[in-house]
Amino acid sequence: MDGLFGKYRVLLAPMAGVTDIAFRTLCREAGADMAFTEMVSAKGLSFANEKTRHLLALADGEKQVAVQLFGHEPDVMASQAAWIEQEMGESLAYLDINMGCPARKIVSKGDGSALMREPELAAAIVRSVRGAVEHPVTVKFRRGWAEGDETAPAFARAMEEAGADAVAVHGRYTEQLYRGAADWGVIARVREAVGVPVVGNGDVRSGADAVRMAAETGCDAVMIARGAEGNPWLFSQVQAALAGVPEPAPPTVKERIAMARRHAELLTHREGRNIVRMRKHAMWYMAGLPGAAAGRGRINYCTTLDDFNQVFDDLLLIAQEHS
Ligand SMILES: Cc1cc2nc3c(=O)[nH]c(=O)nc-3n(C[C@H](O)[C@H](O)[C@H](O)COP(=O)(O)O)c2cc1C
Repeated sequence: MDGLFGKYRVLLAPMAGVTDIAFRTLCREAGADMAFTEMVSAKGLSFANEKTRHLLALADGEKQVAVQLFGHEPDVMASQAAWIEQEMGESLAYLDINMGCPARKIVSKGDGSALMREPELAAAIVRSVRGAVEHPVTVKFRRGWAEGDETAPAFARAMEEAGADAVAVHGRYTEQLYRGAADWGVIARVREAVGVPVVGNGDVRSGADAVRMAAETGCDAVMIARGAEGNPWLFSQVQAALAGVPEPAPPTVKERIAMARRHAELLTHREGRNIVRMRKHAMWYMAGLPGAAAGRGRINYCTTLDDFNQVFDDLLLIAQEHS
């Protein structure tokens, strides 16, 4: 694994609403080599929107992050990429351009995956951003737009020609959203189509999956999104599997609850008393634990660290009774 991703072979994917400071911290501690911020609107940044800028805040002492921009206007994308570079300085590892998001509110504005249907505009964006910053510029996209119409290899080539320093491919079509299985064959075909590093993405949920993706596709780095939800340990398992050493034992119930507590504390540190966004994480940590069904109902009413900790305390008691 050479070049841009020589140091970054296991990446935490960008996830809007999920990959905030708290979650990034836990995934990095577990072994993610690189972490993305939540996707950031170039337009929002250009209006100096505080909420948008907040997405770029890092934890004290946080390692370099990758920042993903979305938008479709080459000049706005370039000026905001330059602003991010200047603002973040040493904290920025590289910039990524979102050309894979299938959400209606994004593609209806011509952003995200809509750019896969406009390869010339997509290339113009990459050229502008590439020309405006010194940091590496990468592009993340999907297998193609319409099911059965695999455009990713040609698209990847066009992005490389426009100046992309690496590409990341999620093996689903835009029309599939998150349905069905990710196709890893397309990652191999993109790998053959370009000379720049290729990041493989889609359905890595275990160390064995990561090893298989790397072997089957020749990808330069593995990117993980949903598998890490409520499960930062996945990164330590994947790192061990890729290094060919035994994987750490899966977390105990106690460890899962301790991680959930720490997550809530980190969020409180960052967001203040109201940590409603912890609800979804709490559900993920609790999945499959004894007492989870009753706990889920209560989580929907939690807003503060104390609220969450009470549910976690009770889950721990139930787990102890079960053991
Ligand atoms: C809640 C959620 C938010 C996401 N947000 C983004 C995003 O902001 N930018 C992006 O490129 N992909 C986003 N994705 C897609 C993931 O980065 C990834 O490509 C996809 O989930 C497939 O990987 P996985 O099978 O490991 O989950 C998101 C996915 C989820 C589930």
